Amino acid sequence: MDDIIKQIKEIKDKAIEEIRKTANLDNIFMLEKKYLGRKGEIAKFSKMLKDLAQDQKPVVGKLINETKEAIVEIINEVKQAFDSASTPKLDLDLTLPSAGQEFAGVHPITYLKWKVEDIFAKLGFTVVDGWEVEDDWHNFTALNIPQWHPARDIQDTFYIKHKRDDDKKTLLRTHTSPLQIRSMLKKGVPLRIIAPGRVYRNEATDARHETTFWQVEGLYVDKGVSIDNLIAVLNKAIKMVLGKDVKIRWRPGYFPFVEPGVEIDIECLLCSGKGCGVCKDTGWLEFSGAGMVHPNVLKAVDIDPDIWSGYAFGFGLTRLAMLKWGIDDVRLFLSGDLRFLKQFKK
Ligand code: DAH
Repeated sequence: MDDIIKQIKEIKDKAIEEIRKTANLDNIFMLEKKYLGRKGEIAKFSKMLKDLAQDQKPVVGKLINETKEAIVEIINEVKQAFDSASTPKLDLDLTLPSAGQEFAGVHPITYLKWKVEDIFAKLGFTVVDGWEVEDDWHNFTALNIPQWHPARDIQDTFYIKHKRDDDKKTLLRTHTSPLQIRSMLKKGVPLRIIAPGRVYRNEATDARHETTFWQVEGLYVDKGVSIDNLIAVLNKAIKMVLGKDVKIRWRPGYFPFVEPGVEIDIECLLCSGKGCGVCKDTGWLEFSGAGMVHPNVLKAVDIDPDIWSGYAFGFGLTRLAMLKWGIDDVRLFLSGDLRFLKQFKK
């Protein structure tokens, strides 16, 4: 019997030492099985009990039970230590933002674009989006600017290498006007859309010129649309966008895709029409081109100009942002300079 008692005590010491030393939770489960499992070390002693003398059975039985209890206790202790290490009890609200964290702001162009979209949506326009890589036909030819037209020269752009010198040649769009063509082809008429978007020109950059800028195109085609409708809608929209009652001037202008064409000026926002460096002492700022859709444009998309008529307009969103906030260098918009961008954070 002394022999069994010695063995049990040895196993107990060994188990306790092994369990204490273990470094991970998986091992604890393994050791639990090794010592306390059905075929484990302690179970072996329990099986020996029946071969012992009557008076020895209770002594050895008691020792086995005490050993089991001691091992269970140490296992629980170690498990608990692992548990509390993985879920520390901290007095912290982890849903709170960290101290000093900065939130991103909306780019001023995006902010203004949303504002313009909201205003024109209230006036009954649907907002459409288009590709920045266009083909020659949508960007020029269908807008009554054929291959030979001099208007192409003032809208030089970045051509994507292409062997063909025809309508399928791809380029970075020079204006949002191709959305007139795409919308009429896709949705048919009657139609009332605005298309804000990024456009590209081959420019030598300086404070007033940038290769990349934003425009907003507008188009309304229906039966019996007249220039009075254009004047009424734009007068209203300009005041809504600027948030004040500015003077607006309409004068004749030439764009191949409208006839008659107009240029719309607004009273200089910086000097209130008195004359300053920004308005070159005229008191006026060019705001938008517009006009009645040229019959050739309607014909290009198989719409009968004897039945349908429409107006179109296009203005620079980048330019509007510069006027609205008094920004004197167009390059700031794409500079990624946080000192500039932070000023627009709401
Ligand atoms: N696409 C012209 C430009 O970028 C602007 C423009 C003028 C658009 C007259 C129009 C328009 O729709 O009717 O210079």
